[in-house]
Amino acid sequence: MNDKDNLLVLRNLIQNKLHFEITQYKDRYIERRLNARMGLTHVKSINEYIALLKKDPDELSKLKDALTINVTEFFRNPGTFNILEKSIIPQIITNKESDSTDVIKVWSAGCSSGEETYTLAILFLEGLKKSHKKFKVSINGTDIDRKSILTAKTGIYEGNKVKSIRKDLVDKYFQPVGDDYEIKPSVKQHIRFSFLDLTGINKKAPIYDLILCRNVIIYFKEDMKKELFLNFYDMLRKNGFFIQGKNESLIGDAKDQFVTVNLAERVYKKMK
Ligand SMILES: C[S@@+](CC[C@H](N)C(=O)[O-])C[C@H]1O[C@@H](n2cnc3c(N)ncnc32)[C@H](O)[C@@H]1O
Repeated sequence: MNDKDNLLVLRNLIQNKLHFEITQYKDRYIERRLNARMGLTHVKSINEYIALLKKDPDELSKLKDALTINVTEFFRNPGTFNILEKSIIPQIITNKESDSTDVIKVWSAGCSSGEETYTLAILFLEGLKKSHKKFKVSINGTDIDRKSILTAKTGIYEGNKVKSIRKDLVDKYFQPVGDDYEIKPSVKQHIRFSFLDLTGINKKAPIYDLILCRNVIIYFKEDMKKELFLNFYDMLRKNGFFIQGKNESLIGDAKDQFVTVNLAERVYKKMK
């Protein structure tokens, strides 16, 4: 078999054994991740690597980790969270005054180990306090990586992880646990973490005021991205906001439907 055939065998193996929707990922991306694992396991050919995967379940799980790289941090890209704090969250709170529901609904799609989701919760709690409004906030954090979801649910982070957070916010929203920091129950109670593969979502009703999908779908095929952006558009309420990663761009029909609020920070709004 040549390398192309081997790659196909490997794609099938990943799809069937890991239940990972590999068809939506670009070849170039798979190859890069694969080369990294082959280097680390000192394997010389895809053929040899396939043999290794078949006999070593541990390597299968490492490959999955490599495919779903889950690097994240609290207040990642501070400029984005600055706009959220100063402009977007106050607008969402004001909009709620004329809304039929008093629940602010937020979705962190591809939330990894939860840092983005907790950052959002902290900023909404701060915003609501400042505005003296009694609205509820309900945040969904979803990811394809079950290990990350478990970490997110625990809400315990190493000391160096909270360094990017303002000290007054750490004091207010975290409690020290040995050398680590745990998110307080008063924050956790606003969040639900669950497994969700973004390549398989069915369109749902417009329920969200804010959706973030940052640094998750960079490696998705273009058609999948276009479909997903439209799904996000449909799932937002009127005047809802969508935020993507700083190095990502909006494509497809959703590009014409969303209004750009801040291009540098990739903030978009659904006007109708
Ligand atoms: C780099 S992290 C981004 C975390 C956070 N959004 C941020 O920007 O800091 C990418 C996350 O996307 C998740 N992911 C990758 N493919 C996914 C898919 N098909 N469905 C849901 N999550 C996925 C990975 O498991 C990983 O946790």
